[in-house]
Amino acid sequence: MSRILVIYRSKYGVTKEYATYLGEHVGAEVKSYKDVTKKDIMDAQVVVFGGSIYVSRVAILKTVKRYQKSLVSKKVYLFTVGITETAELAISRIKTVYPYLDDYHFKDIFFYPGSMDITHMNWIHRNMLTMVQKMLSKKTDMTEDEKKFYDAITYPNNNKDMSLMNPLIEQLESTIYA
Ligand SMILES: Cc1cc2nc3c(=O)[nH]c(=O)nc-3n(C[C@H](O)[C@H](O)[C@H](O)COP(=O)(O)O)c2cc1C
Repeated sequence: MSRILVIYRSKYGVTKEYATYLGEHVGAEVKSYKDVTKKDIMDAQVVVFGGSIYVSRVAILKTVKRYQKSLVSKKVYLFTVGITETAELAISRIKTVYPYLDDYHFKDIFFYPGSMDITHMNWIHRNMLTMVQKMLSKKTDMTEDEKKFYDAITYPNNNKDMSLMNPLIEQLESTIYA
């Protein structure tokens, strides 16, 4: 039976919730990127990285890079969390921002919708988003993407949907019992 490790990086807890749900459903160990050790990685056969998207950046990829050599013989997956409207768009954007992504040989990459509530954010994010909101509100020709971001800043939203994890859970289950 394969040992699965889920490593997450989450600022406001949404990615952590997805990681915890996944761990419960496939019997995996779940750890924050801050607590994970090289031994944890060496002991696992399957490693799932989960990280949220901030300004088109996926900071968990720093952890993937750090352990890249130890991951060579493992089955490695990535899931990301954000407010981009579709998984296709989110994943294609991540691939543009990180052109070396293929070097990590992820077996699959997933995207799950997150949530945003400006009132629960730290002051840096609150100020940053308030500035973006003001800037966008002056635009008469917002793109679909900008409109979506503006709405997400303006109206607290929660688009978490654990059922979207089913395809990843199925892939992991087939690995466990292979
Ligand atoms: C300052 C800021 C920038 C963000 N930038 C993006 C982005 O570029 N793309 C995206 O899809 N989501 C973006 N988001 C939304 C977050 O990814 C979303 O709130 C997610 O649920 C956060 O997950 P976490 O609580 O696990 O960190 C941004 C959120 C904040 C606060």
